[in-house]
Order: sequence, then structure tokens, then C-alpha cells
Amino acid sequence: MRLILAALPAFASALPSPDFNSLWYDQGLFGAYPSRDYVSFDLSSPRVNILSWSTQCDPGHIFLEPRGRSVAKPGPMILDAEGNLVYMEEKFGEAMDFRPQTYKGEDYLTFWSGTDDGTHGRGSYYMLNSSYHVARVVNPTNGLEGDLHEFEITPNGTALMSIYEIIPADLSSVGGPKEGWIYDGLFQELDIETGEALFEWRASSFYNVSDSFAPLKKKGKSKDDAWDYFHINSVDKGSDGNYYISSRYMHTITCIGPDGQVRWKLGGHDSDFTDLSHGAASNFSWQHHMRYFEKDTLTIFDNGAYDKNFYTADYSRGLYIQLDLANMTATLLADYVSPAHILAHSQGSVQFLDNGNAFVGWGHSAAFTEFKRSGEVLCDMHFGSSAFFGWGWIKSYRAFKGNWVGRPTWSPSIARRKSKVYVSWNGATEVKKWTLQAASDTDGNFTDVSTVDKVGFESSFNLAGKPGHFLRAAALDKNGEVLGYSQVLDSRMGQLVDGPFSPMTDDDLVFLQFLLGLLACGTLGLIVWNVYPSLRLRRFKRF
Ligand SMILES: *[C@@H]1O[C@H](CO)[C@@H](O)[C@H](O)[C@H]1NC(C)=O
Ligand SMILES: *[C@@H]1O[C@H](CO)[C@@H](O)[C@H](O)[C@H]1NC(C)=O
Repeated sequence: MRLILAALPAFASALPSPDFNSLWYDQGLFGAYPSRDYVSFDLSSPRVNILSWSTQCDPGHIFLEPRGRSVAKPGPMILDAEGNLVYMEEKFGEAMDFRPQTYKGEDYLTFWSGTDDGTHGRGSYYMLNSSYHVARVVNPTNGLEGDLHEFEITPNGTALMSIYEIIPADLSSVGGPKEGWIYDGLFQELDIETGEALFEWRASSFYNVSDSFAPLKKKGKSKDDAWDYFHINSVDKGSDGNYYISSRYMHTITCIGPDGQVRWKLGGHDSDFTDLSHGAASNFSWQHHMRYFEKDTLTIFDNGAYDKNFYTADYSRGLYIQLDLANMTATLLADYVSPAHILAHSQGSVQFLDNGNAFVGWGHSAAFTEFKRSGEVLCDMHFGSSAFFGWGWIKSYRAFKGNWVGRPTWSPSIARRKSKVYVSWNGATEVKKWTLQAASDTDGNFTDVSTVDKVGFESSFNLAGKPGHFLRAAALDKNGEVLGYSQVLDSRMGQLVDGPFSPMTDDDLVFLQFLLGLLACGTLGLIVWNVYPSLRLRRFKRF
């Protein structure tokens, strides 16, 4: 039994990561969420299955926030372009919309964290600096709380954020109570430095409940069970000063002027545009993540489905659309369809990368795909088994790709297992090599033992040559400069010197079990020795 238990993790980590075109992976043979464990790092990260690969894909980092039933420790996560772990953190809990953004010339990692009820959230927006410290926490004003869907930093140092507020509404036109309740869809633009609100807009001033495509489902009768009739899920601002928002339940993109008035609507019940693509540029439904670009082009993630049983399209699409505002026409320039024809009934994102490619996150399904701008698939990766996509046990609200330089202030990690020493450094993006160093005492001079290239998240050294009593690892950058040293490992004890108590090694455990067994046998012997004669005595007494 012990042998089998010990062999299992060894087998799992011996499997290659990433997987390439693994049929077993997508058949679910490794479970819904195949993951990798590390020796020098406590959390496990997803193994990815690479179904398509191209050198034309952006070499940058991938930003995800895996969560769901199969994800024990949700939180923000960075992978490299091949799907190896770079950074993950559990202390924030569930995160949404995790990505790098620029504020006043500095790069930050931004995300939402708080409590969510599955479709919207109440929380705050976090900005981590390049050493992963919380540099700022941003909240909406007017006593409102930040919703999970959007936190977009503009080039002017302002932030756009989505907000949900429960307000009374007459729902008699949709078969609900006259004195009913709705979730209103709001957004604010805030000055990040001062926290001052510069702009606020609310859907209920412009959109009627009767225009909603969302089923009422007996909701709206009480304040605790308000009906989400609009569902704002993205906010963007153009260089023209207009705001662009996506409403999932109206199936519309709305342009709002700086005066707060609606300029135009694309999609939904009364689109202001003639669709020159026979519907393909404006028949999107239940969509997410709209972004507006120069020359009136935009991208949308068109889910095409409300839930598992209620869908309008056969599969979800990323859309690239051209508007002509003089003639009020819309044309589809390209669409992005998953090779697996994923129909993601919630979440999802489309991002244009610096190299011109389009990067699509499939939201409810644990997958992302990089396309040529024209729509050709370049790289296609799963971070959960496609056999389970329908269940949404692993999802990432959005997925992004981009550049990030992380310089953690914590030191690299080192740990021994059997005859190997393992090293890793959560969040460090500039490590190219690891050098193992040894010394005969902790105060002694460390000398280099061997150097290995950093491959993936964790690297290892073989201890077969018995290099020395005290060991540490140096992380080197591309010029061979030391970026940081790990704590010192007492290689005989398998523990960090002055470190926190670490779990015992397998050898220690075997010895401990032997001791416990000896102790148990001794105790049993003593009991028998003492109790049995007395029982005999009592029996004698009865006679
Ligand atoms: C990040 O923030 C922490 C805490 O405020 C600070 O100590 C650190 O110097 C900052 N790092 C950078 C690169 O600004
Ligand atoms: C949208 O329009 C395109 C082009 O006419 C069509 O192929 C597609 O089926 C339509 N989708 C839906 C969901 O109506």
C-alpha cells in the first residue's frame, strides 16, 4: 500500500508537461483538471495540453484565474507561452480579469477580488507592483462596490469599472410584479490617484426591462432576489472620449457620449446599424468583453448561449467588426472559432496582441487559442480536459497574453527529495540558470557545484556526488548575474537551516513508523503482562 501511494505522485510528475496533443488528457483519463505538483513549491498548477503550436505565436506570458469545482486553490496565475507555471497566488482567493496594465508608465498586475454570486460580484480592484506587492486597492465611490467584470485603466490614469446596484423597478411589462426589483448596470470612471469619480452612468435611465432577453425566472419579487435584466460586463473608452459598454442580456454594444447620452447601439432589439455581413456582425448574443479601437473597429466575445440548454448559436466566436459611422453599417472582418467548436455559455475574452494576433479565452471552458488576425488558428491549448468543458469545473473568466517582468522580494525556494535538490522561484521572470552551491558549515564560503538551465517552473540537481553538507541555489539572469539566493538547506537533514519546520522525508517517516510499531508492541506486551494475571486472579476469587 505504502509503495503504491509513494509511486502515484512519482508517476504523475514523471508525465511530460506540457502534453502535446494528448488524447488521454482530453478523454479525461487524468481527471478534469490534470495538474503538476512540485517539491520546492506547495501549490499545484495545471498541466496544459497543446493541441496546435506555431512559432508565430506571441512569446509572452499567459494570464489566467482558474477557478471552479476542480480548482482547490483558485487565484491569479501566470503561465509562460508553453504553459509552464510562472506565478500563482492563493491568498487573494478567487480573482477575475487578471492581467498586466500600465498606470503612469509603470506595469501592474490588476484583478478583481471579493465575493461573487456566480454572475456578479461585490469587491475591490487590486493593483500589484512588479514585486507582487499590493500597491493600490481601488473601489468605486458613492458607497458602491466593485463588480468582478471590469477594471480597465485608461492612458489618462483613470479606471473604468462595472457596478451592480439593486433598485426598485416596475416589472409588469415582463410578467413580474409592479413593485419589483432589478440589478441596475452601472459604470464609473475614477481618477486612480485621488479616487474621485469623474463619470457615472446607469442602464436603467436608458434601457427598458422589456428589451431584455434574459428570462425572468420568477425573480424580481424581493430585494434579495432582484432580476439581473441588463448585465453590464465590459466597459471601454475610446480616444474620442466616448464610452463603449457590453450588455449581455440586451445583446448590445452601446456607445455613450461624455454627456452620458446614448450615441448608438449595435445588436439587440433595435440595432442602429445595417449589417453588411448578413447578420454576422450584429447577431451576437449573451456576449462578453468588447474592446474599441482606432478607425471604429471593435472586438467582441460572442458566447451565443445563455446556459447549457438555452443557446442561439452552435459555437462561440471571437468577432472583429468594422463600423462605418457615416453610413451606419457594420461589417464582420474576421471571426475566431475554437477548433473544438467550443460553445462557452458564460465568460470569455478576445484580445489583440502587439504582434497583431488575436488571443481568445474560452471562459467557461478551460481553453485559450491564438489566431492570426485573419482567423487562422496558430496555438490552441487546454488547461482542463475537454471531456469536462460542459460542466465548467475549471474556468477562467478572461485570458490574456502579454509581457511581464516580475521581481519577487521573497527568495527562491529549495527542497530535497531523495537524492535530488529542487529549486523554483514563484513569480521571477528573469531567471535563466540555476547554480547549486555548497559549504561545509553555514558560515562558510559557498562554492559552485553545478549549473543547470532553468526549464519550466522547477529545476533539479542530482546529489549523487555528495557535494557538501549545506546547500543553496543562486538564480542567474541572462548575463549570469545573481538575482537571488535561496535559503540554506541542510542536505543531511533535508531541512532548511533556520527555516520553518518542514515535513519529514520518506526515510525519516519509515524510521518513525518503525519506532511507533516498536512502542505499540511493547505497550501491548505490558498490558497483557499486567492484565492477564489479574483476570486469572479474579476468576480464582469467584470460586
Ligand atoms: C512594491 O511595493 C512594496 C510595498 O509597498 C515595496 O516595498 C516595493 O519596493 C515595491 N516594488 C516596486 C518595484 O515598486
Ligand atoms: C448570424 O448570421 C450569420 C450570417 O448570416 C449566420 O451564418 C449565423 O447563423 C447567424 N447566427 C445566429 C446565432 O443567428
